[in-house]
Amino acid sequence: MANVAVVGMQWGDEGKGKIIDLLCPAFDAVVRFQGGNNAGHTVKFGSGEGDEHFALHLIPSGILHEGVACYLGNGMVINPDAFLAEVAQLERRGIETAGRLRLSDRAHALTPVHVALDIVREEARGADRIGTTAKGIGPAYESKIGRTGIRLAELVAGGEAMRNRQIVRVADFERPAAEGAELDPEAAAEDFTRWAERLSPYLCDLSVELDGLIRNGRTVLFEGAQGALLDVDHGTYPYVTSSNSTTGGAATGSGVPPTAIDGAIGVVKAYTTRVGEGPMPTELVDDVGLHLRDRGHEFGTTTGRPRRCGWLDLVVLRHASRVNGARCLALTKIDVLDELEELRVCVAYRIGGEVVRNLPAVTDRLEAAEPIYRTFPGWKQDTRGVLDRSDLPQAALDYIDFLEQELEASADLISSGPRREETVVSGGGALGEWLGDRFGTVQAAVGG
Ligand code: IMP
Repeated sequence: MANVAVVGMQWGDEGKGKIIDLLCPAFDAVVRFQGGNNAGHTVKFGSGEGDEHFALHLIPSGILHEGVACYLGNGMVINPDAFLAEVAQLERRGIETAGRLRLSDRAHALTPVHVALDIVREEARGADRIGTTAKGIGPAYESKIGRTGIRLAELVAGGEAMRNRQIVRVADFERPAAEGAELDPEAAAEDFTRWAERLSPYLCDLSVELDGLIRNGRTVLFEGAQGALLDVDHGTYPYVTSSNSTTGGAATGSGVPPTAIDGAIGVVKAYTTRVGEGPMPTELVDDVGLHLRDRGHEFGTTTGRPRRCGWLDLVVLRHASRVNGARCLALTKIDVLDELEELRVCVAYRIGGEVVRNLPAVTDRLEAAEPIYRTFPGWKQDTRGVLDRSDLPQAALDYIDFLEQELEASADLISSGPRREETVVSGGGALGEWLGDRFGTVQAAVGG
C-alpha cells in the first residue's frame, strides 16, 4: 500500500473532489498541501429531496469519512475565520472534528489585510488582471516568502516571538495602506487574540505526525488543489495561483521527503476549462463551448464565475504529466461529451509558423498559439453511469486509448457522472498496484 498524491492536470476544477472522496476509504490520512480557501468542492448531506449542499474550501472532504485523519499542511495559507466557519458547518451536521482534524503549526495565517490587498491590486491591474478568487491568496504567500508572515505556531504562542513579528507586521501594514487597502491594526490585534485561542487545539507538528504514521505502516493521500497550469512555477505565469500545486508541492507543503510519495494520480477532465484570465489555446467561444458549460455545469464553486470551456489540450497535459509524474489518470466528465458530433484534441501548437509540442514559458507565445487538432468521431450515446470499461462506446474507448498512449499512463478511474457510483474502476494499472489489498474499498465505494 502506497502514499499517493492526487493532483489536477489542467487549470483546476478537474473533479478532484469526487476522486478523492472515492479513494479516501483506502487511506488512513488525507493532507492538503497548498493553497487556501481559493479551492472548493461541494459536499452533499442527506439523500433525496431536501438534500443540503455546502462547499468546503479548506478542509479536505476526507472529513466526511469516519476514521480518516485530515491535515492542513504547512504549504497552505489559512484564513482562520474561514477555517472556523467550516468547522462550525460540519459540527452543525454532526461531524465531529476534534482529534481528527489538525493544522500544521507552520502554515501561515491569511488575514483581512491580505484579502483587502488582493482586491485593490486586481482593480489596479485593470485589463491585465489575473482574475483571482479575491480571497487574499497571493498577498498571503507574499508575506510568507517576504518573511513578514505569521505562522500559526507563532500566532498561538504569543509572547516575544509574536510581538517581534507584530512589529515587522506593523511595518508591513504600511504597505497595504500605501496601496489603498483598508486596514485596522486594532481589529487585527483582536483577531489575533481570538484566533490564538480558537486555533490552538488544532495545531500539530505535521512533519513529525506524518513521519509517525508512515513508519507505522499507515497510508497518506496528498490532496492537491487547483491544477498544474496554475502552479506558480510550472503554470501559465503570471496567470497562476501563488503555490506549487504539482506533486513536488506535496513534499514541501507537508514536511515529508519526496521519497515518501510513491506515485501521483493525475485528474484530467475530458475537455478543458479555465476560470480567470490568461491564455487558453483550445478555448471555444461558440455553441460547442456553451454546450460544454451547460452540460458540464461549469461554474466556479468558490466564486460562481462561468468557466471558459474548450477541447482537450495535449500540450498542456504532456507538460502536467511530466511535472507531476502521473502514472495513473482519473478521467472525469466523459459523459459531458456524449452529444457531440465530433471531438477534437489539440496535439501541438503552431506559433509563428513553428510547430511546438512543449508548453512555451512566455505568455505572449501561448496567447499566439494556434492549436493543431486531431479529430475523433463523437459517440452520440449515453455513457452516464457506465460501470465497466467494456460498456463504453467504441468511439469513447478510442478517445481514451489515445490519451493513455500520449500520456503513457492508464486511466484507472473514469468518471461518467457526478455520483460516486458513476465510475469505471480498473485494477490492472498503477492504482491497483498502489492500493494493494485496499483496492476493494474503492470498488465498494462505487458499489461494485
Ligand atoms: P488566486 O489563487 O485566488 O490568487 O487566483 C489565481 C488564479 O487561479 C485565478 O485565475 C483563479 O481563477 C485561479 N484559481 C484559484 N483557485 C482555483 C480553483 O480552485 N479552481 C480553478 N481556478 C482557481
